[in-house]
This record gives sequence, C-alpha cells and structure tokens, in this order.
Amino acid sequence: MKKNRSGAIKGNFKNKSILSLDQFDTYSIMKVINRAEKIRKMTISNMSKLLKGKVVTLLFYEPSSRTFSSFAVSTKRLGGQTIEYQNPFQTSSAVKGETLEDTIKVFENYCNAIVIRHPEIGAAQRAADTAIKIPILNAGDGGGEHPTQALLDMYTIYRKFGRLDKLVGLISGDFRYARALRSLLKGLAKYKNNTLYLFSPKELSLTREDYKIYLDRGLNIIEIQKESQIPNNCNFWYWTRVQKERFKNPQEAKQIKIPTLTTKLLKQKGNNKMIIMHVLPRIDEVDVDVDEDPRAIYFNEQLQNGVYTRMALLALVLGKI
Ligand code: NCD
Repeated sequence: MKKNRSGAIKGNFKNKSILSLDQFDTYSIMKVINRAEKIRKMTISNMSKLLKGKVVTLLFYEPSSRTFSSFAVSTKRLGGQTIEYQNPFQTSSAVKGETLEDTIKVFENYCNAIVIRHPEIGAAQRAADTAIKIPILNAGDGGGEHPTQALLDMYTIYRKFGRLDKLVGLISGDFRYARALRSLLKGLAKYKNNTLYLFSPKELSLTREDYKIYLDRGLNIIEIQKESQIPNNCNFWYWTRVQKERFKNPQEAKQIKIPTLTTKLLKQKGNNKMIIMHVLPRIDEVDVDVDEDPRAIYFNEQLQNGVYTRMALLALVLGKI
C-alpha cells in the first residue's frame, strides 16, 4: 500500500515529503532548527556519515542558483551523491513529451529522494502523489510555496533573536506571487504575537483571501504603502523582488515600482539591533551600498544558514539524526 508521505510532520520526518509550511507545527520547525545547529557544530568527518550511500535527484524545471547549489552542496557535505537536472524541459525526456508523473516514476528507481522546482503551483504535491518509494522536497512550485526557504529564514531570525514569537518585521515585495513570502508568512503565523508590516504597492499586496487566512491564523498584519509608515522598532527587514515571470502580461510587471531599500531609509527607520534579509536574487530593489552594512546578512549568514537548514532537512528525512 502507498504511504501518505505528505501529511503533517509532527516531529517525525523519516521519509516524509516536505511540500508546504502547512505540514509543520512549532515542534517540527524547532526540530529542523536544532538539527541545523547540531550539524553546524559537527566535524566534517561526522557530518559526512549522515547521508552516506544515499543519492538525491535535483530536478529543477525553473532557473535557480542558490536553492539548487545549496541542496547539491548539502547532499555532498553529508556524504551523499546527486543526480542533477537543471532545465529538464530542455535536457530530460520532458523534451519528448514525458509527463512529470512519468519522470518521477523513473527517477524514484534511481535515488532516495527528489528535490523538485517547477513553474506550476502544486507540481511538488503531484510528484509526491506519484512517488511510491521516496520522499519529495519542494524547492519552489510556481507561485505556490518554497518551504525550505522559509525554514532557513526562520532559522536565521531565531539565531539572531532566540525566538520566533513577539517579533516585529518589515517585509517588502511581491505578496501576490512570491512563494518564499507565502511560506514565510505561514511559518511566522504559527507563533504568537508576531506583527508584520507588509510594504508593497497595492497591485502586489496580498489577495483579500490570503490576507484573511493569515489574520485568522493569528498574524498581526499592517499593510503599508509609504516609507513614513515604517516603524523604528523592527527586528528584521526582509526584501524581495517583483516576480515578473509570473505576470500574465510581463509589460505590467515592468511598470510596477516596488520600494527601494537605501542607506538613507535605513538611517531614518532602522535601528541597531535589526537584521536585513533578502531572499535573493536582488535586482534593483536594494541599493548595493546597503550590502556593506553589518546588519545586512543576505550575502553571508542567510546563505550559510540555507545550507545548514537543507542539510538538516535531508538528514531528518533520509538519514539518522
Ligand atoms: C526565490 C524563488 O525562487 O522563489 N529565490 C530563491 O530560492 N532564493 C525568490 C525569487 O526568485 O525572487
């Protein structure tokens, strides 16, 4: 009989597919964070035992730099090996018309887990529904979710503040289409007393359905359009780009101006204890001068935490940790 690998995790990750933040309770989120912290402190020789003999397929139907490479390096550092497909629409049997389902049926005979990124919402779930023997990890399904990104972001926040509740955050960007934000909001909604200022032009604000969902889940959401509405007491600022590839009309995306993070804005509205995060890639929504600010951790700590978080997830799902 086929196992249900995509249900609630409840602290038991063994052979589970990781598809959405909806599968996580706070216990499971903390388990990922604790394992990431544990792996961080391991010797190279000890960490390289955790995935020994395991093979992970990376099946990336959409462009990726960080997620692809960090899953690859995570598998390798844990002693596992990878089968790597970047752009399978051009390099796999998808070119010949093979369905995603059939591709999954094939690859599950070659490896112990599949990490998939795909332009369609629900593609990772479809892959998980198809796979009989192995778990699927969602590395981004269209405008759907990006759970491993949210977990690494939460790990980053936790490392700085020692908590995931009672936070004040400013998030700027594309609340219509950014899957990383969808997963992050779902994650932060699991903790009490989190207040998020969502800074975006009206066209990119949350749909009213999504807004209501997050409110019902307990997030305090304040939608803002002007810099003057940013409070001075944020724990973190989190910037994202416009997801132009998800617009039906790409011209429309070009006309939308999203807020720019500048050193001037930081001087006016920042504080000494805050951190500045970005999901990356950055286009032009954060001035390069901001990169030099010690509070900006998107090119160092956030990326490093991404590797430890993905190592933790792989080890929990496949290994012995
Ligand atoms: C994000 C994505 O692909 O959703 N990138 C990433 O994984 N770091 C964000 C983006 O592309 O803007």
